[in-house]
Amino acid sequence: MLFLQNGKRFLRYVSASYKCRCKSNATLSTLKNKIQHGPGLKEFIEESNGISEVITHPPHIPYLPDNIQNISKRKVYFDVYGCQMNLNDTEIVWSILKNEGFEKTEIEEDADIFLVMTCAIREGAETKIWHRLDHLRGFKNRRAASKNRNKPVKIGILGCMAERLKEKLIEKEKSVDVVAGPDSYRDLPRLLALTENGQTAVNVLLSLDETYADVVPVRLNQDSISAFISIMRGCDNMCTYCIVPFTRGRERSRPVSSIVDEVRHLSDSGVKEVTLLGQNVNSYRDITEKTEKNDTQLAEGFKTVYKHKKGGLRFADLLDKVSSVNPEMRIRFTAAHPKDFPDEVLQMISERPNICKLLHLPAQSGSSAVLERMRRGYTREAYLRLAERVRDVIPGVGLSTDMICGFCGETDEEFEETLSLMELVDYNVAFLFPYSMREKTTAYRRYKDDVPEPVKKERHHRMLELYRRKCQKLNDAEIGNIHLVLVEGVVPKTGQILGRNEFYIKVLFDQTEIPSESGMRGVKPGDYVGVRIVAAKCSSLSGVPLYHTSIREFYKEYSWGERAALRV
Ligand code: 5AD
Ligand code: SF4
Repeated sequence: MLFLQNGKRFLRYVSASYKCRCKSNATLSTLKNKIQHGPGLKEFIEESNGISEVITHPPHIPYLPDNIQNISKRKVYFDVYGCQMNLNDTEIVWSILKNEGFEKTEIEEDADIFLVMTCAIREGAETKIWHRLDHLRGFKNRRAASKNRNKPVKIGILGCMAERLKEKLIEKEKSVDVVAGPDSYRDLPRLLALTENGQTAVNVLLSLDETYADVVPVRLNQDSISAFISIMRGCDNMCTYCIVPFTRGRERSRPVSSIVDEVRHLSDSGVKEVTLLGQNVNSYRDITEKTEKNDTQLAEGFKTVYKHKKGGLRFADLLDKVSSVNPEMRIRFTAAHPKDFPDEVLQMISERPNICKLLHLPAQSGSSAVLERMRRGYTREAYLRLAERVRDVIPGVGLSTDMICGFCGETDEEFEETLSLMELVDYNVAFLFPYSMREKTTAYRRYKDDVPEPVKKERHHRMLELYRRKCQKLNDAEIGNIHLVLVEGVVPKTGQILGRNEFYIKVLFDQTEIPSESGMRGVKPGDYVGVRIVAAKCSSLSGVPLYHTSIREFYKEYSWGERAALRV
């Protein structure tokens, strides 16, 4: 639908039936060609006959300004907030824009377009972005008053906050020119082109099938030895506190073949670690592929609000294929939901030396009553049974979690149950949050945000303290053991080498020559090094590098499980 609102030239897509999607990165000239027989702004205005709103169902993109080519020569500056998924989405956006001839800059003063990839998960995340927008407004105004005023600054808001606030974002922050939700990045070149004529452009249409499968993300940091790959988008779980299903839409998986192709491409270009991303990666389903296998049922004590998915390739199949591309490439994945860890997934992780043995089991709360209000689909007992099962199938596995304190109605006793769960489970990594009420969510409609802020703060503090104490103990126990460390780079301040162990914990050591197959040599990014741990903090370890190695070499003598049991 096209709205011409109060003469304000507002472009806005709101119709869920609008199906036009350019499946490839069509060039602007192709787009322009496609629409040149369509109606122009003049026709719309004439047709509207003074009426403030004109509604139509354009068969394809209806209108492009003549000076569309100008915008694509502009330099884009990216600001990324939030999760790893946002980083990967920015790489998808950059791929789309680069294809259209846009340039990228890391210097604010050189930028013509600021694209802010936003997060809406908690109020604090949005507050940070509003502050950034204050700064960008000032920058835009200064450019408008400078001798470079012929190159006005444009500001685009992308991602979850864009989807949550839609055109309200522009009403609140007049300096914003473009608002684009997570499923409308293919439309960005056009939306930006519209701003050349002083228009404001909003596309917040959510899709049922957009996975950007054919867009090869262009990495923002080309030198990094690790990369992210989105394997699915959206979430169907509808946890009552969470805004994600509203900002990222329905769950959909990207075909296995396109994921494997991307992994292969990254491996060929020297990447040593890929993290498979999604809101709920372990409920992955590629329904474009047939399989003879029977469907696994959810484990006892777990349920979902949506109908059990049937057929197609599942997460275990994907892990199998992805980890087979290059046995020397580390595979990680996040985020996961405890309901989708059948034995076949656990077994696959256990068997493959290159799948990292850190499992994200976000509990969110240790109280069954709170979990029920959160609509997590499991009880404390079912969660504990799962944690035990995971440790049985993958001995020595590391566990990580997300926890929320101060959710609606959380009593002192219920909070104590969260602490006791943390005591029982021994998490290696934990992300701990005070609850932040989000509009639109079920909790917003159904419950009261009745835990006072100071109580939330105090509970958060207690969770952090407990986590740090426990984590320190776990890390102290690693002193003397040899860890397989993938080297990432050098810490600028200290000159020390920084790498990560199997659990993604930072390991620091001094640069020195160590034995390799071809004699003594120093350490560089992408190397696997056997490091003896000599000191531990809560979030990092220090060690002494012993030798160059590889995943296969390191686990040749002792498998992962044996090493964990023997603590070597
Ligand atoms: N308040 C606090 N934390 C939240 N999370 C999601 N929604 C909220 C909220 N409204 C946390 C959950 C989730 C993680 C990504 O963010 O723990 O797993
Ligand atoms: Fe949000 Fe729950 Fe989906 Fe995670 S699983 S994104 S917490 S709704």
